[in-house]
Amino acid sequence: MLQSPAFPQPDPPRWTGQPIVLVGLMGAGKSTVGRRLAARLNLPFVDADSEIETAAGMSIPDIFERFGEPYFRDGERRVIARLMTGGKRVIATGGGAFVDPDTRAAILARGYAVWLDATPAVLADRVSRRDTRPLLRGRDPLVVLEDLARVRNPFYALAPLHISSQRAPHDATVNAILKALGQI
Ligand code: S3P
Repeated sequence: MLQSPAFPQPDPPRWTGQPIVLVGLMGAGKSTVGRRLAARLNLPFVDADSEIETAAGMSIPDIFERFGEPYFRDGERRVIARLMTGGKRVIATGGGAFVDPDTRAAILARGYAVWLDATPAVLADRVSRRDTRPLLRGRDPLVVLEDLARVRNPFYALAPLHISSQRAPHDATVNAILKALGQI
């Protein structure tokens, strides 16, 4: 679901300094856009997936392989709950985080969620440059991302701000977020 002139988005609520939390599918550019957005706002940037790896003392592919996805989601829930109490910052989340009901509730209660959205074709193009994602291993990224988009987009749509990260360069996406937040 991309922004369409036929269905304009309502004005997003005002950003009042909550942690800005980027959500959306793998390949949306959450980490790159998040890092640049944080730099422009002069705020710290935190990548939730890196925090999970640090807390677990192992990589995400290893967590999935050794303990399975439910174990990863438990850790993700705890780490994001902690990050939400850490003050003004920009946080990039993993693609499944906002789909978990507790994690989503924590983000919506304390943060300002921004859905970075692109079509499965664009996302598949981007993710095919790296093969470290456990949900994509040995599978056709386009098929996986189409399935995930169907299931997850209704949840991402609960984020108060919806930004397209279609084929635009990441800096254009950063500018679109800054504009929506009233920062430029
Ligand atoms: C996942 C996305 C990944 C990572 C994990 C699971 C998902 O993060 O959290 O592999 O469920 O979509 P990115 O969205 O940063 O790739």
